[in-house]
Amino acid sequence: MKIALVGYGQMGHMLRSVAEKKGHEIVLTVDPIAKDADVNASSPEEIAAAVKKSGAEGVIEFTHPSVVVNNIKNLLPLQIPLVVGTTGWNEHKDEIRQLVEKNQTYMFQAANYSIGVNLFYRIVSEAARLVSSYDDYDCALWEAHHTKKADSPSGTALEIASLVMQNMPSKKTIVTDAFHQRPSPEQLHVSSTRIGSVPGTHKVYFDSPFDTIELTHTVRSREGLALGAVCALEWLSKTEKDKKLPCGMYTMSDML
Ligand SMILES: NC(=O)c1ccc[n+]([C@@H]2O[C@H](COP(=O)([O-])OP(=O)(O)OC[C@H]3O[C@@H](n4cnc5c(N)ncnc54)[C@H](O)[C@@H]3O)[C@@H](O)[C@H]2O)c1
Repeated sequence: MKIALVGYGQMGHMLRSVAEKKGHEIVLTVDPIAKDADVNASSPEEIAAAVKKSGAEGVIEFTHPSVVVNNIKNLLPLQIPLVVGTTGWNEHKDEIRQLVEKNQTYMFQAANYSIGVNLFYRIVSEAARLVSSYDDYDCALWEAHHTKKADSPSGTALEIASLVMQNMPSKKTIVTDAFHQRPSPEQLHVSSTRIGSVPGTHKVYFDSPFDTIELTHTVRSREGLALGAVCALEWLSKTEKDKKLPCGMYTMSDML
């Protein structure tokens, strides 16, 4: 498959290596500053024009929360299957979903492309469901990432928080700031640490007066994230060709 990479930073380079190992061809890399990118551009119109010219059959976008929404808006009219990895744009999700349908195209987005993290989502959901039968248990989330990460808390932590709230009805709101007063029982605290080069750790605590249950997912290498994103593009492209599912925005739970 001919693939265009929008954003040629850490993930972009990893995606090239994983995609090529799987026999795909990278026909374009676009990035405003990366010296080894094929095209140095930052305007979304220029990026979309370069993608169109490249003859790409699929696009993978890993850039920055401040530019991703405009990139998506300009890429959708090309009607090429689009996988978005950039996080930090949750508040635009409904608007983008509508644009995907309006443009009659296929898009995939996930806060975390690792298969392990997606298994962790299911484990946490089940744990929250079980724990919610016992009033004694409280819950909190903590995540740590490298200092280059732009958004905080991570998209993955917000996804885990949403799964906890779906399965633990006592938790109704997420608090990401520090507490300056005693937390109320319906608040779910999600805290973040930024340190060094940590690739990503997410921890869920279920705590009672008698014990604590801790569930942890630790990323060892970012290769798993890149592999998940390439698999997502393969799945999306096949879905588009077979017309098995209608145009729309898909995610990991649809693929797995
Ligand atoms: N969903 C996931 O599984 C997952 C995994 C890892 C990273 N991420 C997210 O992906 C994003 C990128 O991560 P990274 O580690 O590659 O970051 P990075 O900083 O190493 O690379 C981002 C690249 O995007 C480029 N860029 C900035 N503006 C651009 C624009 N307008 N058009 C094209 N490129 C542009 C930057 O110059 C940089 O080279 C972040 O938001 C990160 O949180 C998501």
